[in-house]
Amino acid sequence: MKILIKNIKSLVQVDDGKKIKISGAEMKNLPCLHNAWLAIEDDKIADFGSMDNFPGISDWSSLQVIDAADKLVFPCWCDSHTHIVYAGDREQEFVDRINGVTYEEIAKRGGGILNSAKKLADASEDELFYSAMKRIHEVIMHGTGAIEIKSGYGLSVEAELKMLRVIKRIKEKAPIPVKATFLGAHAVPAEFKDHKGKYVNLIIDKMLPQIAEENLADYCDVFCEQNYFTKEETKRILTEASKYGIKGKIHTEQLSHSGGIEAGVECNAISVDHLEFANENDLRILKKSETMPTILPGAQFFLGLQNPPARKMIDAGLPLAIASDYNPGSCPSGNMNFMVSLACINYKLTPEEAINAATINSAYAMGMSKTHGSIAIGKQANIFITKEIPNYSFLPYSFANNPVETVIINGQLIVDN
Ligand code: NIG
Ligand code: FE
Repeated sequence: MKILIKNIKSLVQVDDGKKIKISGAEMKNLPCLHNAWLAIEDDKIADFGSMDNFPGISDWSSLQVIDAADKLVFPCWCDSHTHIVYAGDREQEFVDRINGVTYEEIAKRGGGILNSAKKLADASEDELFYSAMKRIHEVIMHGTGAIEIKSGYGLSVEAELKMLRVIKRIKEKAPIPVKATFLGAHAVPAEFKDHKGKYVNLIIDKMLPQIAEENLADYCDVFCEQNYFTKEETKRILTEASKYGIKGKIHTEQLSHSGGIEAGVECNAISVDHLEFANENDLRILKKSETMPTILPGAQFFLGLQNPPARKMIDAGLPLAIASDYNPGSCPSGNMNFMVSLACINYKLTPEEAINAATINSAYAMGMSKTHGSIAIGKQANIFITKEIPNYSFLPYSFANNPVETVIINGQLIVDN
């Protein structure tokens, strides 16, 4: 199957495929080719160029031609942090928060993550699989072309394995690539309330070996936060995971400063996520690492938390990734266009910086930037064509709209919105 997209107003984020992440001042640069064509062969990007040098084509018979006049073509968004396997929504907690109860208070009275764990315990693998696949298709229609999914609403050996087996099934069935993250240390289950150490032991002695044996996880995550897991517990869990070749990804500095960035860097985590409470020292620590700082603008917005120091991070020369955190508690949306808008509006990222953060850098945050996150010859043909829009800045500007018209995944036309 060959596809030729012609008359593209702007082909966004073109490169030679060698860059695996972009940092600091370089993030202000978003390489584009104006008045361009893009060729796709099978599931890969075959070539691209300017319409001034349109390729001579001898055989049009097996070629699908798409005219993208007045439209832009992007590499699909890469969403490196989601919790899309869940049962039931949590709109009552949303209403409670409007009425003045805090996220922490809701968690203390057994709501929050524990509420989702209760609902998940009663759900079958089939129910979890079909509802998550619906969310996968929904985010594809908004331009997402690679995704990470976490467990963490199981919180028992049985239920964590159930979640990870569902994620494995999604990996096999979804058209977009999926990375699986084990998040057994997402919250302390009620029955371990006064024996947190025993729960950490359960994660290390029972969950991790079984998960490794069944090859169910690409990454291991910990919620390093007051009332959840300490910096020491985080390091212990990530060190154990690394013995099975499973790298870390951390939720941290979201509700308070808890030292998770330092723990993550010490354990060579691929990313540290949230970061509302990251401080100057954390920025210095990150500067010496290969760990990707990742912001989740939807969760910060939805919970009304303070802004992460995203602008400061880029100005300090750090790379930055954007992901959605799609989950029923802190961000019931996986719309990456909106996440990009929020980062521009609330954190003063330029459109170029935010688009770099949501493509190549978020691909890096799930170990996929060699194959995804930019328009490069040989990369996976996961791209989207916008509606008629004037330029790429229009995308974050027209917030909460869906600028995506057509999505191509693995060289196949998926959807026309
Ligand atoms: O990424 N911060 C911790 N965990 C999730 C929220 C989970 C939930 O409330 O269900 C997050 O925001
Ligand atoms: Fe999360």
